[in-house]
Amino acid sequence: SFAGRITPKGQEAKICTQNKLDSMLLKGKKGIIFGALNEQSIAWKVAQQAKAAGADIVLTNAPIAFRMGQIDELAKELDCQAIPADATKLEDLEALVEKSQEILGGKIDFVLHSIGMSVNIRKKKAYTDLKYDWMQKTFDISAISFHKLMQTLWQKDAMAEWGSILALSYIGAQRVFPHYSEMSESKALLESFARSFGYHFGVRNKVRVNTISQSPTPTTAGTGVKGFDQFLDYADKMSPLGNAPAEACADYCLSLFSDHTRYVTLQNLYHDGGFSNMGMSEIMMGETPE
Ligand code: NAI
Repeated sequence: SFAGRITPKGQEAKICTQNKLDSMLLKGKKGIIFGALNEQSIAWKVAQQAKAAGADIVLTNAPIAFRMGQIDELAKELDCQAIPADATKLEDLEALVEKSQEILGGKIDFVLHSIGMSVNIRKKKAYTDLKYDWMQKTFDISAISFHKLMQTLWQKDAMAEWGSILALSYIGAQRVFPHYSEMSESKALLESFARSFGYHFGVRNKVRVNTISQSPTPTTAGTGVKGFDQFLDYADKMSPLGNAPAEACADYCLSLFSDHTRYVTLQNLYHDGGFSNMGMSEIMMGETPE
């Protein structure tokens, strides 16, 4: 009988095998990708796939990630440059945007913001006992950095017409997940910045701005949340397609960088196997699906 996970253990999650067909999806496009820390990172998969789809990219991450993570290895593998930039520091973002345009030889077609960190979660503070200077740091890293990035791109007029700016979010912005803590508010703020700045970018540059709300994914940021394995499993059982893996999230990111989604903007787009519209599933009730 069918018991347990929708995606049975040991069965590979379905990921895009169309890469050959789509290999030129991003041909000639120039992009900046934030947030590749290690092989698990969603941004890591986006970088690999964007390159394979014909894009020229610059990688970036916080200086500490260059010391702790493997971004240099990825840069070598993809034969691209990796530039350290703390996304909370305007001077770092300004230098990054300037250098990226020099390296890539023109305006930027797509940008991925794949950055999140909660100081209170990291220090294991309960939601009812948060430290506010830590909270402000969390908001700065996880959300305000997105506004800072967009404002820098805007003021330098660095985005190409019909370009695409994307950030990664989580359904904790809309619903309660007790251990997601102040990241819930970070994501709510992030999604709101996408809409508000997306308006201005649309009017002036025909640039679109969206967020993708991704399934729980086993990465460094994801597994840092208390009870992660439980809500990974819960989301998997509740979602008719099961949890969306990082590789599939990268496929979706590519579609949003491509010319196939030119009029999609100001959206928070669920990439979650259907989780966000579910109320209850048969598996959660211990029943065998029809
Ligand atoms: P990750 O830990 O691989 O990536 C987070 C990145 O943020 C790291 O590369 C880290 O170096 C970077 N970062 C932290 N502080 C920074 C700063 N000051 N300046 C520049 N970069 C900084 O984890 P993951 O899961 O790939 O996270 C990427 C995005 O996806 C985040 O926005 C996360 O909230 C979001 N997300 C993750 C989910 C999950 O379950 N893993 C679910 C839904 C969204």
